[in-house]
Amino acid sequence: MNLLLLGRGKTGSLVADVAAERQHNVRTVEIEENRGGAALTAENLCDVEVVIDFTTPSSVIANIEATVRAGKNMVVGTTGWYGELDRIRHLVERHKTGFIYAANFSIGVNLFFDAARAAAAALRHGYSGQIFERHHAHKKDAPSGTALTIQRLIREASAQQENLEITSFREGEVVGLHEVVLESSNDRIYLCHDAKSRRGFAEGAVLAAEWIAGKKGFYDFKDVWREL
Ligand SMILES: NC(=O)c1ccc[n+]([C@@H]2O[C@H](COP(=O)([O-])OP(=O)(O)OC[C@H]3O[C@@H](n4cnc5c(N)ncnc54)[C@H](OP(=O)(O)O)[C@@H]3O)[C@@H](O)[C@H]2O)c1
Repeated sequence: MNLLLLGRGKTGSLVADVAAERQHNVRTVEIEENRGGAALTAENLCDVEVVIDFTTPSSVIANIEATVRAGKNMVVGTTGWYGELDRIRHLVERHKTGFIYAANFSIGVNLFFDAARAAAAALRHGYSGQIFERHHAHKKDAPSGTALTIQRLIREASAQQENLEITSFREGEVVGLHEVVLESSNDRIYLCHDAKSRRGFAEGAVLAAEWIAGKKGFYDFKDVWREL
């Protein structure tokens, strides 16, 4: 496939490596030529099958709008924009393109989501709960998109009104650590996912690009990763 990659930072550069290993052609657009999504015209994207975004919360919305308006399918790994989710879903549906996003493209984290969903039953049996997340000091959004996803999954699975509290730590070069702690007077349950490298995110994002090529619709990776 011909892929256009936005953002060749810590994660994007690994996405480029994984995509090349899987025999895809990867073109990168740097921020200098893409302020406000300026590089993402239908003309520039004519031979591109999927656009992949690992940029920043302040760039991603303009990139999504331009890509969808150009009629192209998209994988979005960038977090920190989910307040706009409904508006973007309508945009994608109006333009009949394919769109897949994830707070976390790692298969391990998506398994962890299922474990957190199952453990949410504890809240109906007198347990209290907390979420902790730890990332490198350069991360621009807090709480992490992954922590917010865990919070929402647990609220929905436990049918509780209240969200669990999220505590965020930003330090050093931590790739991404998420913890759910559930506590009763009898015991304590710890669920923990600790990413060793960014490679898992990149592999999931490239698999998502292969999956979304030629499809229409708006998808959350956590609902489709088992099909990949
Ligand atoms: N979903 C997942 O699995 C997953 C996993 C890891 C990270 N993330 C998210 O992905 C995003 C990127 O993370 P990261 O750690 O890779 O960040 P990073 O190292 O800061 O990389 C971001 C890159 O995007 C570039 N950029 C910004 N705006 C752009 C634009 N309009 N067009 C083209 N390039 C642009 C930046 O360029 P400059 O440096 O020149 O500004 C930088 O190279 C974050 O939101 C992070 O939370 C998601």
